[in-house]
Amino acid sequence: MRAVTWQGRRDVQVTDVPDPRIEDPTDVVLKVSSTGLCGSDLHLYEVMGPFMHAGDVLGHETMGEVVEVGPGVSRLSVGDRVVVPFQISCGDCFMCRRGLQTQCETTQVRSSGMGAALFGYSELYGRVPGGQAEYLRVPHADYGAITVGPDLPDERYVYLSDVLPTAWQGVQYADVHEGDTLVVVGLGPIGDMAARLALHHGVRVIGVDLVPERLERARARGVEVLHVEHDDVAAAVLEATSGRGADGVVDAVGMEAHGSPGPSALQKAAGLLPDGLAKQVMTSASVDRLAALHLATQLVRRGGTVSLSGVYTGTHDPMPMQQLFDRQVTLRMGQANVKRWVDDLLPLAERSDDPLGLEDFATHRPSLEDAPEAYSAFQKKQDGTVKVVFKP
Ligand SMILES: NC(=O)c1ccc[n+]([C@@H]2O[C@H](COP(=O)([O-])OP(=O)(O)OC[C@H]3O[C@@H](n4cnc5c(N)ncnc54)[C@H](O)[C@@H]3O)[C@@H](O)[C@H]2O)c1
Ligand SMILES: [Zn+2]
Ligand SMILES: [Zn+2]
Repeated sequence: MRAVTWQGRRDVQVTDVPDPRIEDPTDVVLKVSSTGLCGSDLHLYEVMGPFMHAGDVLGHETMGEVVEVGPGVSRLSVGDRVVVPFQISCGDCFMCRRGLQTQCETTQVRSSGMGAALFGYSELYGRVPGGQAEYLRVPHADYGAITVGPDLPDERYVYLSDVLPTAWQGVQYADVHEGDTLVVVGLGPIGDMAARLALHHGVRVIGVDLVPERLERARARGVEVLHVEHDDVAAAVLEATSGRGADGVVDAVGMEAHGSPGPSALQKAAGLLPDGLAKQVMTSASVDRLAALHLATQLVRRGGTVSLSGVYTGTHDPMPMQQLFDRQVTLRMGQANVKRWVDDLLPLAERSDDPLGLEDFATHRPSLEDAPEAYSAFQKKQDGTVKVVFKP
């Protein structure tokens, strides 16, 4: 089959790889109909290279039709239309029973000390082949796969794999309620969707980014927007909140924030090192890659909550502990526990008036063969690229 494979730093190619097949009794195989490109894929494209292997199949935002079913699967049949959460979880362990599917004790990648295995997401997360491909093997499918009806277009459902639960967990963890003010730092797909969900629940949203189309897209839906470089963001948020700051802040940027000197310098340094040393540099170097997180901690009010959706991987990163402690700030974070949120989100996704604008959320729907160009445009934020959904 054809699949999007990682070949090197900023080098993805569409190549022929073996078709997936049933390996464990609880697997199914899907024929992929839609599969998203995510800000998380950009980390693999750039700074997480030391944890990738040439030929790894990318992608973790997948839906399609079941074409093969393992003997241990009872809930799914050939022909079912399903969405696949980006993490693989068992549904039955201590963590899954508590709604912490990203910590699943059955699929945790203990060899690298990480949580649940993820599709298409480096050796840190188990090197499981991803969904930017014609077919996908889905382990623990009986629990994981979300069955959906036949009538609505893929765009109503595909974001249940990642964007919707990640954005919703971000808003939930920010602990904001109707009438509160939420700042969303970063208006890529995750920040944009977090803003839409918060607005839908009566929360006032101030969004911060630097890409004009992304700011405009959010503004058109009722977000008050600020440009991280052209506006004095901290002063504007204080002024908008009676001098207090926001009740909650979602950081939807992560470790490759514009304005952190770290990522590019770090990547360049790591790129020159042998693999083992490069990995060490990538996980432990104490450099400032926290521009977005530090901004978030400045914008939150005393006693408020900062919720991190953006991905961070360092182990020695400096944090402003005096301010966080004195200002009594709560920090919550983590990969989204997809199945934890599906019951909240599925009815919204299916509503006839499409209140979240899911059908128009993708700006680009290329074929898989156009993946190299799509990755490049998404990373460089060219051609108005905000969300790409491939149609294999
Ligand atoms: N927690 C999870 O489960 C989960 C799931 C999906 C994605 N993510 C992460 O969410 C983050 C966002 O991903 P995305 O898909 O929305 O794509 P993205 O990477 O395109 O979004 C990031 C946005 O932040 C903006 N930005 C960069 N620096 C900024 C700064 N200093 N201040 C304000 N804005 C800034 C960029 O212009 C961009 O619009 C990534 O780190 C991704 O890995 C996490
Ligand atoms: Zn994703
Ligand atoms: Zn589990």
